[in-house]
Amino acid sequence: MLKIGHRGAKGYEPENTFVSFQKALDMQVDGIELDVHLSADGELMVIHDESIDRTTNGKGFVNTLSLRELNAFRINREHKIPTLKEVFDLVNQDCFINIELKSYEATEKVVSLIEKYVTKKGWKYDCFLVSSFDWNALQQVAFLNDKIPIGVLTETDLDLALAFAKFIQAKSIHPHFHLLTKENTAKIQEKGLQVFPWTINELEDIQKIKTFNVNGIITDFPNRI
Ligand code: G3P
Ligand code: CA
Repeated sequence: MLKIGHRGAKGYEPENTFVSFQKALDMQVDGIELDVHLSADGELMVIHDESIDRTTNGKGFVNTLSLRELNAFRINREHKIPTLKEVFDLVNQDCFINIELKSYEATEKVVSLIEKYVTKKGWKYDCFLVSSFDWNALQQVAFLNDKIPIGVLTETDLDLALAFAKFIQAKSIHPHFHLLTKENTAKIQEKGLQVFPWTINELEDIQKIKTFNVNGIITDFPNRI
């Protein structure tokens, strides 16, 4: 059962920062999950919200600020917002990277960056897993490069997610954990897909979900898995 650190190790360090990703690596995760938005000048930024207001000392929407402007702001007074490329270099194939596309506009650039790491640096496509609630973005990923592993995110409808995942030949379904039962987990797996539920933090919930034999767990507290 794979251990996937949500926004790094969000339970211990500020989300989507280098220290959070390093903490997750120190906890020997199999994968890290992170969120991506596009800056005004087309840089892939690792940040959850569409604005920087909640997590940094700045204000404004990510897609209205340039990389240079974004670099001036700090998370918890000390950490900068990483770019996706910087996180790839930090992880350096130590685990896989689950990139959650938070905006459709970022899709092509994420595909290009993955292709660059595969063709120029020798990384395997299995180093990556692209997920999104925006299924149009996932369809676009599949259209641009059918070798990139895809995870279909859902918090509402597992059957629909399963049908769509089969249609685009996704690798996995990422459901909110409240949607899962032992039976529907098995049904998804029988169709050849893996199941990576999120975001499971309480020990009691982790124990229960483990009995469903999911393929991996996305958590803020990787050491609890
Ligand atoms: O990828 C799983 C999970 O991160 C989706 O929800 O809001 O934490 O990005 P959110
Ligand atoms: Ca996410």
